[in-house]
Amino acid sequence: MEIQLPPFNRRSFLKQSSLAGAGLLILPGGIMAGTRSPNDKLNIALIGVWGRAQAHYGWLKEQNVVALCDVNEAHFAHALKEFPGAKTYIDWRKCLDHKGLDAVVICTADHHHAFISNWALNRDLHVYCEKPCAIGVEEAQVLRKNWLSKKGKLASQVGTQMHAQENYARVKEMIRDGAIGDLQMAIGWGNRKIPRKGYLPAQGDPPSGLNWDLWLGPSAVHPYNPDYFSGNPGTNCLQWNMFWDWGVGQVGDMGSHLMDLVWSNIDATSPTSINASGEPFNPEVTPVMLESHFEHPANDWRGPIRVSWYQGGALPRSPRPFINLDTIGHGAMFKGSQGFIIADYNNRLLIPSAKDADLSYYKPRAKKDQLPAIGHFQQNWIDACKDPSKKTCCDFEYHSQLAEQMLLGLIAYRVGETLEYDGAKGVITNNEKANALMKRTYREGWALNG
Ligand SMILES: NC(=O)c1ccc[n+]([C@@H]2O[C@H](COP(=O)([O-])OP(=O)(O)OC[C@H]3O[C@@H](n4cnc5c(N)ncnc54)[C@H](O)[C@@H]3O)[C@@H](O)[C@H]2O)c1
Repeated sequence: MEIQLPPFNRRSFLKQSSLAGAGLLILPGGIMAGTRSPNDKLNIALIGVWGRAQAHYGWLKEQNVVALCDVNEAHFAHALKEFPGAKTYIDWRKCLDHKGLDAVVICTADHHHAFISNWALNRDLHVYCEKPCAIGVEEAQVLRKNWLSKKGKLASQVGTQMHAQENYARVKEMIRDGAIGDLQMAIGWGNRKIPRKGYLPAQGDPPSGLNWDLWLGPSAVHPYNPDYFSGNPGTNCLQWNMFWDWGVGQVGDMGSHLMDLVWSNIDATSPTSINASGEPFNPEVTPVMLESHFEHPANDWRGPIRVSWYQGGALPRSPRPFINLDTIGHGAMFKGSQGFIIADYNNRLLIPSAKDADLSYYKPRAKKDQLPAIGHFQQNWIDACKDPSKKTCCDFEYHSQLAEQMLLGLIAYRVGETLEYDGAKGVITNNEKANALMKRTYREGWALNG
């Protein structure tokens, strides 16, 4: 006789599975609770419906987008053509209470990311969040803590979609198979420059439909200026992400992507020490030019390494004078005892360097042993939503560690001193002023972990 199972209910599953501890819950018939048929559609809320969100419309149309949330009501007409019948919201706090939701896709301005992600996890919703997942160290820490309590029962993915490029896997194999000997340094850089002087004076009223106060959300109030956010079609993130109240400039922008290429190859968690330098500190605007350096302890396959990020004109030294790293634009470099790998999203260049660098020590793996392809990045998340025992490639555990490191770099830059960090406790141990900067201040009525 076929056993009729009740419809999937995430809340009751999570309750039961937490009662069952970390182990899997096996229902009669051997069906693992929490898994759904690959053909089932997820009920998704898309939060931030235009700009970057448009890049997600294609795969989202294969699911049920049942709720649309945007602070700019003028954007609904466009999104409703794609997702007819979806209910619209202007405040994501209300949207998350939409009945029957399974998951959220977050494409808002960066200063809402950790908030929405935490609130969604706390409501047992799967989360796809555009990068970066946080703009403050504490935000990254709280998000990771929440995620770790739901890992295996929910799915998360941060929007560093380049991670699914085949080249990432090939670079990883080269490093692990010894193409550059023992790994010593890993470096990322980006040359995008968006100079801003400071917050702008009030200018005109927000366009009709734009709820400016909700756009500001947890961050301090600034009068509207169209140069912050015009609300025009297209991605506006390069307008607002240089201002400390809404973003962390290129650290969160290209830093999320290029340092993901670095991070995916080093199996690192928290740095033990951090130093950074750049242009003079501006309390209103994040730096264009910056370099930050992080010392990471040894792990089970490599010795201690130095990890670095360069942006806005700062660049690492090229291993060869004829290689101009600036022309690579956004890149990564790995230095080992026997040579260098220079890479970007799609390319890799091996430069043997030592005298005995005849590559005899390098044993590239056979094709059959190559790392499996990740495939479609967003499908990777959808698959894990339907079966949370599957891991996504850029979940909150992975990406929040990377974000935490990068944000610590900004604190080291602000205080101008080398910081010692206790990753297990999540505290800077040698500088109280720097420690205090890990926590951002929010407007009343906005809770990070609601
Ligand atoms: N993965 C990538 O390669 C990639 C590329 C571009 C942008 N992004 C990221 O996507 C996000 C959005 O960037 P964008 O350029 O589209 O920004 P944007 O300013 O154009 O905003 C996108 C949409 O979100 C809405 N919005 C903003 N704040 C909101 C809020 N609190 N609640 C609901 N709706 C809100 C806006 O009205 C707009 O419709 C950013 O975090 C950015 O870093 C990622």
